[in-house]
Amino acid sequence: MLLQAFLFTVLSSFLLISFCSHSPPSEASDKFGARDCVCGGGSSTRQERGEAQPPEPAPAQICPLPGEVINTFSIHGNATVGTSIRYSCLSGADIVGSTENFCQVNQTWLHPHPACKKLFCRPPKEVEQGYVVAVQKTEYEAGFDIHYLCKKNYLLDGPQKITCLSNGSWSASPPHCRARCVIPAERSRVVIGGEKRWPFDVTDAMVPHGENVAFYCKHPKKQCSFTAAQTCFDGKLQTPECYLEPTWLQYKLFPHRLVSEIETCAPGDVE
Ligand SMILES: *[C@@H]1O[C@H](CO)[C@@H](O)[C@H](O)[C@H]1NC(C)=O
Ligand SMILES: *[C@@H]1O[C@H](CO)[C@@H](O)[C@H](O)[C@H]1NC(C)=O
Ligand SMILES: *[C@@H]1O[C@H](CO)[C@@H](O)[C@H](O)[C@H]1NC(C)=O
Repeated sequence: MLLQAFLFTVLSSFLLISFCSHSPPSEASDKFGARDCVCGGGSSTRQERGEAQPPEPAPAQICPLPGEVINTFSIHGNATVGTSIRYSCLSGADIVGSTENFCQVNQTWLHPHPACKKLFCRPPKEVEQGYVVAVQKTEYEAGFDIHYLCKKNYLLDGPQKITCLSNGSWSASPPHCRARCVIPAERSRVVIGGEKRWPFDVTDAMVPHGENVAFYCKHPKKQCSFTAAQTCFDGKLQTPECYLEPTWLQYKLFPHRLVSEIETCAPGDVE
């Protein structure tokens, strides 16, 4: 009888161990001496057996991941003991070193953390009529700034500065330097910036890129005028279709009858 009980104990503990050895137990025995077989994340039944609960749940055994690593990589998997993680560079660059790592039982990583290949920015495309305020290079490091200026009478359209990003792209496309426009009217006034002016009174008879110019057009049937606006875009400014440049004779002999000088149409007159 005694022998039978002994055999049973030996046999059952053998079975318990061999069962656990199929998949590595995360915890084969604990400090209370009770044998807990927790295979593949199964939950312990310590409570059901009426044993004392540990005062606090034991913190998960993890390997440390420094902030620098977390900021550089996207990490696949978790850092718990006995598991592996995979790295990929957030910048999209290739990895230098091992792309996989294993969290060892003593909470250290099997391999050192890898690094990401440094990416460089290629020279941005040239800006016509612009100056680059930087040393010209064949490649630029992350964080490098290029400042732009436009030649006299050209207007900067876009960012004044672009920065090389760590993924090898520029923070923005380079800007454009946009040309001024000649006001395509001579013998009638136009409205620029809310002011009614003779084109020859405007500096160089030109407006900057992006400026709106309102031209006076004559009503097809009535003796009144209305305005039609056009925008200067990089040196191109056209008169609206309704605008008719007065002749030299009209301008000299009947200045008060020029289209920009007659009364403006009532709102109802213009469709
Ligand atoms: C660890 O990752 C596995 C799968 O990647 C997941 O099933 C498990 O819940 C994770 N564990 C923790 C503690 O986050
Ligand atoms: C952790 O364990 C590994 C493998 O068992 C060993 O090589 C390493 O030296 C240990 N590290 C520390 C800090 O104990
Ligand atoms: C680089 O990063 C910026 C901002 O995070 C993003 O807009 C851009 O598409 C990225 N470029 C490449 C080549 O991944």
